[in-house]
Amino acid sequence: MHVDPLEKRWLYVVGGIVAFTIAVQVYYAAAKGIHPPSNVQTIDSAKLHLSKEFAENNLGVHKNTDGSLDVTMVAARYGFYPQEIEVPIDTPVRLRIASLDVLHGLLVPYSNLNLMVVPGYISEANTTFTKLGEFPMICNEYCGIGHDYMYARVRVVPKNN
Ligand code: CUA
Repeated sequence: MHVDPLEKRWLYVVGGIVAFTIAVQVYYAAAKGIHPPSNVQTIDSAKLHLSKEFAENNLGVHKNTDGSLDVTMVAARYGFYPQEIEVPIDTPVRLRIASLDVLHGLLVPYSNLNLMVVPGYISEANTTFTKLGEFPMICNEYCGIGHDYMYARVRVVPKNN
């Protein structure tokens, strides 16, 4: 089969890019232990209210004995529940959130929180808020006509108040 020399050169270039990309991923996965978020914990989205953890009266901020916080939330068209959470600054927070219906996102500026909230799964992330103030928690996955209005608030307050 005849391949034009110029085309052949580009095949090498493209092959090189693909090999480099795979090598980078293998390197970071194997040597640096960096993996995609894979908290593969499933939950029946239609029965959140029957689960212990995501039942309405269990949502919100829970304090652990070591001082860290567990935040339990539900994302549903078109809001986050609870609508507002209050957390002290410089405190480890473990956020767990589940969707009641469709795919949502969760993004809090000035933090590492940027999650996909996939129905059927529990999304989990650890963070520590290091800036005082009020921050929006916004949905960044298009979830329907009310997507633009889907947000909650995070209030980061001084410690021990
Ligand atoms: Cu929920 Cu967009």
